[in-house]
Amino acid sequence: MTGNQRDPRFAGFFPREDDIPVPHRLGVPLVQRDYLCDGRLVAWPGPLQDVHSPVCIEAGVGPEPCLVGSYPLLTETEALEVLNAACRAYDNGRGLWPTLPIEERIRHVEHFALRMGEVRTEVVRLLMWEIGKTLPDAEKEFDRTVDYIRDTIDALKELDRVSSRFVIEMGVIAQVRRAPLGVALCMGPYNYPLNETFTTLIPALIMGNTVIFKPPKLGVLLHRPLLEAFRDAFPPGVVNTVYGEGQRVIAPLLASGRINVLAFIGSSRVADLLKHQHPKPHRLRSILGLEAKNAGIILPDADIKLAVRECVLGSLSYNGQRCTALKILFVHASIIEDFLDQFCAAVDTLPAGMPWEPGVQLTPLPESGKIDYLRGLVEDALSHGAHIVNGGGQSHASFMRPAVVHPVTPAMRLYRDEQFGPVVPVCPFDDIGEPMRYIAESEYGQQVSIFGTDPAALADLIDPLVNQVCRVNLNSQCQRGPDSLPFTGRKDSAEGTLSVSDALRAFSIRTLVAAKQNELNKGIIRAIVTERASAFLSTDFIL
Ligand code: G3H
Repeated sequence: MTGNQRDPRFAGFFPREDDIPVPHRLGVPLVQRDYLCDGRLVAWPGPLQDVHSPVCIEAGVGPEPCLVGSYPLLTETEALEVLNAACRAYDNGRGLWPTLPIEERIRHVEHFALRMGEVRTEVVRLLMWEIGKTLPDAEKEFDRTVDYIRDTIDALKELDRVSSRFVIEMGVIAQVRRAPLGVALCMGPYNYPLNETFTTLIPALIMGNTVIFKPPKLGVLLHRPLLEAFRDAFPPGVVNTVYGEGQRVIAPLLASGRINVLAFIGSSRVADLLKHQHPKPHRLRSILGLEAKNAGIILPDADIKLAVRECVLGSLSYNGQRCTALKILFVHASIIEDFLDQFCAAVDTLPAGMPWEPGVQLTPLPESGKIDYLRGLVEDALSHGAHIVNGGGQSHASFMRPAVVHPVTPAMRLYRDEQFGPVVPVCPFDDIGEPMRYIAESEYGQQVSIFGTDPAALADLIDPLVNQVCRVNLNSQCQRGPDSLPFTGRKDSAEGTLSVSDALRAFSIRTLVAAKQNELNKGIIRAIVTERASAFLSTDFIL
């Protein structure tokens, strides 16, 4: 393995300032000095955190990380100020937002979506510079998020239509609806900083909760262009932001006991820490997206060309930095040579470069220390008898060429650790019991991909696997989408289920008004409905 700055293969890999096409240039660093609290962008006079891009600039002395900007390092005081604003806006469920008719909440969210569209170019540019996502993937992340908002609105209308009627059971008249839970704290991950923050923030909001959101450690500034839209589209205190060290700004929020919903996408270690900080954990609803080590199982009769295509996409899209990535491949020994030849050839021709370069698929990595961590995993595997079987593994500043490591055995860290980067462990197997045991014994339980052509053999695997993971992909890479499908996991991989419609349920609770079916109560209900005196007890139908 090499990490040689002078490796001739990397000559000219990072651009000089002038090489960057004008539309993609970063321009002046974005210095964010404000945070959103109680409907105002509050100026922060304190220290700022610099944000450096994984994209380096070649200035003659070697590649130097480019400064993207800086953001406020808030303290407990501002975090509690933000919490007070969110609690005031919720007002124990009596605030304007939680009592607003659904149709009106939808109008606020539509207003936000419209304003969001106006800053697409800026957000996409920051996605490229802050986390090294390719231009098409950054655009996809933005557009997928806007689509998610629209689909959420449609799903809520549908949910509301179903609830716009009374049920009469055993002499009881009832109307059952979904109501908000309180103050939601939403925290997304760095690999989908916009999309995965919004897939919890939007459903939380639209269901009537008030929200505090903290952008991930990497991917903070790309939220800045959206703050005016949040401020203008929602009543004061409904959406608030915090920035800074988790221990300083998040711990006090949870320790206050006033957070009702924790939506967090990150590691199970941090999720456990956060949950335990709440003085009454049973009051905290958690929706968590955590680690995974999704396996690909390539059976002896697999269509190798197809399996290679899906496994390359599955293991190396966005450099393998997806929770749904294929993080270990079990390949039947009878086809391992053929598979590895084709797989390595495909991996070695993946175009690498800067996020805006056309066709590029591999880009610099945003996490500091990531390459050392990946190198450690690979060196551990090599010391236990594995080899890098493609032409990869070299690194240059923040970039690393993918390493395909084979044969990986249980003695190696790569067998169990979630690499979350461009390293692909391959394990040959003779007996299908080996990968099946691996999945059963794994700490994780998100998804699996199985590649084969015999329906009977696949059926034999599907039935046990659906009880181990939450999505079995046939001849297809693991993935979250389409967003209408449930996305969840077992064991250390998730808590709660997200999809457009499941998220509406996750951020709300069923509540009902019920009355014994007698003339007095029928008269009262009829009067309330006819006079449209209640937003809850109502047969209004959203068209
Ligand atoms: O990082 C985990 C994401 O939820 C994966 O989403 O499968 O659409 O890339 P994706």
